[in-house]
Amino acid sequence: MSTQSQSVPARITTRTVVDMKGSGEKISMLTAYDYTMARILDQAGIDIILVGDSASNVMAGHETTLPITLEQMIYHTECVVRGAERSLVVADLPFMSYQVTDTGALKSAGRMMKEAGAHAVKLEGGSVVVPAIRKIVDAGIPVMGHLGLTPQSIYKFGTYKVRATDTQEAEQLLKDAHSLQEAGCFAIVLEKIPASLAERVTQELSIPTIGIGAGHECDGQVLVTHDMLGLNKDFSPRFIRRYADLYAVMTEAIRSYQSDVKKGSFPDENEQYE
Ligand code: KIV
Repeated sequence: MSTQSQSVPARITTRTVVDMKGSGEKISMLTAYDYTMARILDQAGIDIILVGDSASNVMAGHETTLPITLEQMIYHTECVVRGAERSLVVADLPFMSYQVTDTGALKSAGRMMKEAGAHAVKLEGGSVVVPAIRKIVDAGIPVMGHLGLTPQSIYKFGTYKVRATDTQEAEQLLKDAHSLQEAGCFAIVLEKIPASLAERVTQELSIPTIGIGAGHECDGQVLVTHDMLGLNKDFSPRFIRRYADLYAVMTEAIRSYQSDVKKGSFPDENEQYE
């Protein structure tokens, strides 16, 4: 007998995501940092909700993802988990929460699972982070990798330009992708790399690739929700497709409210109590 209630669809798991690659079904992933957005994404049928460390930019207004802390990421993740009934919730491990020691990495991942209720963690980097990934996976925590333009290394790169356009970096990325798969990652984000390289990685790996600025041959796609909804009107790289202009919609609504309050037309008799 199933314990699943009729109205709640089955939870997406890391297994489901790997199986989707096998069956050729594309994987959808979007970011959320709070309960309300998580509920909207979950109920719209998004497969994976990523609590990205892009919260550092989008929520806190920092220039980079470096300042956000593990405590802040745990807070954002627990809010998202409360809003997600069906989607798989993957939480970013922030800068310096996994790079110092492998034991430190496991502790950070453990806190994300135990305190925030995440279903998996994501961390950035290639072969250098393989020992940390092994330790986390050995403890039973699923890990999503992240290669290409890894924003936590922005000061090393010095630019947000496309990565791995030369043969040497492309070959290294391919090797790193295999190392992450062997270390036990269940999926890998490929950010801002040539579409042809992403296609090669996707063909060679048995785990899914999820692209952002990496072309349509990846097994899935991810965008920052605030970007695709048009809330960040000053940020428009070519890989973002804007599905709405919420900046304009919200500004219009807020101006209408402002005007109604100033005129004294809000609230009216139906919007007050006897
Ligand atoms: O932090 C984030 O939002 C991300 C995605 C852009 C992949 O890592």
